[in-house]
Amino acid sequence: MAFGDALVKALIGDGPLLTLPGWRPALLMLTSGFAGLLPATAGRADPPDFHHAPLSAASLENPYHGQASAAQAGRELYAVHCAACHGRSAEGTGNIPALARGPVQNVADGEVFWFITKGSNSGAMPSWASLPAQQRWQLVTYLKTLVDAPMVAPAPVAAPMTPLTAPPPPAPFTDFRFEVPGAVHKIALSDLPAPFATSSAGNAPTIVARPADAC
Ligand code: HEC
Repeated sequence: MAFGDALVKALIGDGPLLTLPGWRPALLMLTSGFAGLLPATAGRADPPDFHHAPLSAASLENPYHGQASAAQAGRELYAVHCAACHGRSAEGTGNIPALARGPVQNVADGEVFWFITKGSNSGAMPSWASLPAQQRWQLVTYLKTLVDAPMVAPAPVAAPMTPLTAPPPPAPFTDFRFEVPGAVHKIALSDLPAPFATSSAGNAPTIVARPADAC
């Protein structure tokens, strides 16, 4: 109650009012109730308001919260609808914000859902109200799984090496297995295959009759 006391002093001073029995507890209740509201207000102020989402948006409940199958569905939807602008790993592109970090990861699922549904006032972020609500929640569920994900997908693991068994190319040609730094290979015109002598030379496109049902 020390904080409440301080607040009472700050509000009304240490005047004779406080000496009246009965007043002080009532004031304390009033001020501690008020003090109880403060952290909640501060909580909403930091992070700052998410695109002016109404308070009711934050209380919308994500029916799929934490469900892996919904996150997987959302991941596929994300690749189709969102990755072009927000980046494949939701890392952001140009001046389009990242979704894997930043405000999206700090606000309620319902606020993200609300914004995806509505889009930005400027129109730069389209409204996705045309997607069924179920899909919008799946997108939110997926985005919320990204918070600890690496920003860039890890490089694919190299395929195990299979030893090359092809014979060495005929001289003067060579390949990477036999090249050594500084060695020069002189390839003359006469070493090259004759024009149109390769197996694919006759593989030109052919013209076929127009199908009867072509429009
Ligand atoms: C045409 C490009 C484009 C596409 C496609 C797009 N967005 Fe956006 N998005 C934006 C832009 C631009 C902003 C920033 C809008 C602003 O702050 O005014 C944004 C902002 C957001 C934000 C708020 C981010 C923040 O930190 O404030 C979310 C969430 C979001 N988009 C989700 C999505 C989802 C989910 C999809 C796919 C369904 C999607 N976006 C598709 C361009 C796009």
